[in-house]
Amino acid sequence: MTASAPRDDFDRRAATWDDDPMKTARARAVADAIQTHLPDLASMRGFEYGCGTGLLSFALQSSLREIVLADNSDGMLDVLRCKIDSAQINNMKPIRLDLSTDPLPGQQFDLACSLMTLHHIPDTDDILRKLHALLADFGHLCIADLDREDGSFHGEGFDGHNGFDRADLARRAEHAGFTNVAFSTVFTINKGLPEKSYPVFLMYAQKRAGKP
Ligand SMILES: C[S@@+](CC[C@H](N)C(=O)[O-])C[C@H]1O[C@@H](n2cnc3c(N)ncnc32)[C@H](O)[C@@H]1O
Repeated sequence: MTASAPRDDFDRRAATWDDDPMKTARARAVADAIQTHLPDLASMRGFEYGCGTGLLSFALQSSLREIVLADNSDGMLDVLRCKIDSAQINNMKPIRLDLSTDPLPGQQFDLACSLMTLHHIPDTDDILRKLHALLADFGHLCIADLDREDGSFHGEGFDGHNGFDRADLARRAEHAGFTNVAFSTVFTINKGLPEKSYPVFLMYAQKRAGKP
């Protein structure tokens, strides 16, 4: 499978990404669910993969020690840097990173999170292994994405994943070395004509100590 959405598509959409109130509400709902599941965020070093303009990390940053925000779209990262500068926030660190091809950052994290990005990554097992490698022992993984859908969410021409089957994703996470895998439904995206509902899950998992 090739990359699911050309990078320049996200570059192009970056400037108006935050204009959609649904995206802000979705990030807020996911952040609230993460904070409920992990009340002790204050001591944690966070990592968000596929951060876009940083909506999820902005909703989490005041609760976290620090957060590294990674994306492979320069357009998204430009918008993100402007937002961090104008809010004068000093615990958010944007980096350009594509874990499919780039070496892993040297740092380790206590929380790795992601919102609506996993379905754009062709090799799910590979990315789960890499997120596992980025976490310290007993670190937490929180991935929010679409439940399995019929392909209508992106429409024709999309060659990423049409959402995920929760049981299948749980098996893949366990295979990558995670334990305590659990899911909840945290948001619903309504779109299209006629309108359809697309539930968004949050998968929680924890890194086991030692090798996968
Ligand atoms: C649907 S957007 C979600 C953005 C943000 N998480 C949000 O919810 O507003 C997917 C994001 O994943 C990024 N992305 C896609 N493939 C990627 C890859 N291989 N490596 C890093 N980022 C990637 C895109 O650039 C985009 O910012």
